[in-house]
Amino acid sequence: MMGREPQDDVIVVDDLVREFGDFTAVDHMSFRVHEGEVFGLLGPNGAGKSTTIRMLCTLLRPTGGHARIAGYDVVRQASQVRQHIGLVAEKLILYDRLTARENLRLFGKLNHLPEQVIDERADYWLDRLQMTRWQDHLAGTFSTGMKQRINIARALLNMPRVLFLDEPTLGLDPQTTRSIREFIMELHKQGMTIILTTHMMAEAEMLCDRVGIVDHGKMVALDTPGGLKRLVSDNGRLVLELEISNLSESMVRDLQALPEVASIDHESATSLRLHAQPGEGGSTEVLSRVIAAIHADGGRILRLSTVEPTLEDVFLKLTGRAMRDEASEKVAPRRGHWRRAATRVR
Ligand SMILES: Nc1ncnc2c1ncn2[C@@H]1O[C@H](COP(=O)(O)OP(=O)(O)OP(=O)(O)O)[C@@H](O)[C@H]1O
Ligand SMILES: [Mg+2]
Repeated sequence: MMGREPQDDVIVVDDLVREFGDFTAVDHMSFRVHEGEVFGLLGPNGAGKSTTIRMLCTLLRPTGGHARIAGYDVVRQASQVRQHIGLVAEKLILYDRLTARENLRLFGKLNHLPEQVIDERADYWLDRLQMTRWQDHLAGTFSTGMKQRINIARALLNMPRVLFLDEPTLGLDPQTTRSIREFIMELHKQGMTIILTTHMMAEAEMLCDRVGIVDHGKMVALDTPGGLKRLVSDNGRLVLELEISNLSESMVRDLQALPEVASIDHESATSLRLHAQPGEGGSTEVLSRVIAAIHADGGRILRLSTVEPTLEDVFLKLTGRAMRDEASEKVAPRRGHWRRAATRVR
């Protein structure tokens, strides 16, 4: 395989800055997005994700630095940039008094697309987004999820080389969220370059080839989800979840006494979470000692699993703060213990 050529980078962001008065919303940000990649900007409220997207989409002028999309400068060649991009913005942009199809027609015309092209592409995207049967209904009657589908179809009408999705599943029900994520994965398979923002770790992890973690306008880390997670697991920590019959206080004490065991959290009457720092014998030795200690105390292991770090742990390690609570996302019960464990390794 040949090395990656610079022209493969369809987005080049170089030292980008945006100030609002004396507040710096985007603080010298630099990154590149490869052709065909799904690139995520992950960060808490107010991190500067949308401001970055708006600058890349030519909607907001940078205070400093440069950005190029498909080779065009977002300030000096804004109209060429716009030809190559589609944007699904944070706020829905639809006219309630127009039907789904009329909305698409209107936006297609604003983009100077010929009527026939608009109709063909509207057919295509409405079908792919499973909205064909609703095309002649007023947008005002649609659920948020249906509106978002039309919004996505609208962004795709000019067959963009780069699709920007700003929090594409925010506020959607789980079923719609799943189908939108699946749709994004389909676009990815077709080779579209996608840049999305999210504050949901699971979303970043599921969809993105690479993730930039943004905090206070700065990109504090940039890697694949796996690479980011190695940031917190590379020091070799091992977290085990155990379900044990006959779990007793003395058993917990004996486990606690093992040299590798750093701490133990009780999860319930029969389960616990054990944080260990493997020694020379590695994880295998920790496992066998743990198992032996439990057996010696007459316990039986019903379930044993290792707990993987999450991007939340990465964020916590990098910033010392937790991200916004993700009530809408499925999270492991009592993940807080693991969070605290992550703080200790800083
Ligand atoms: N037009 C503006 N005028 C003044 N401040 C602004 C403006 N737009 C954004 N900001 C500020 O810049 C910071 C970054 O905002 P931005 O919308 O980019 O964050 P975000 O990462 O998208 O957050 P969220 O997850 O809430 O969407 C925030 O503190 C915000 O208040
Ligand atoms: Mg935002």
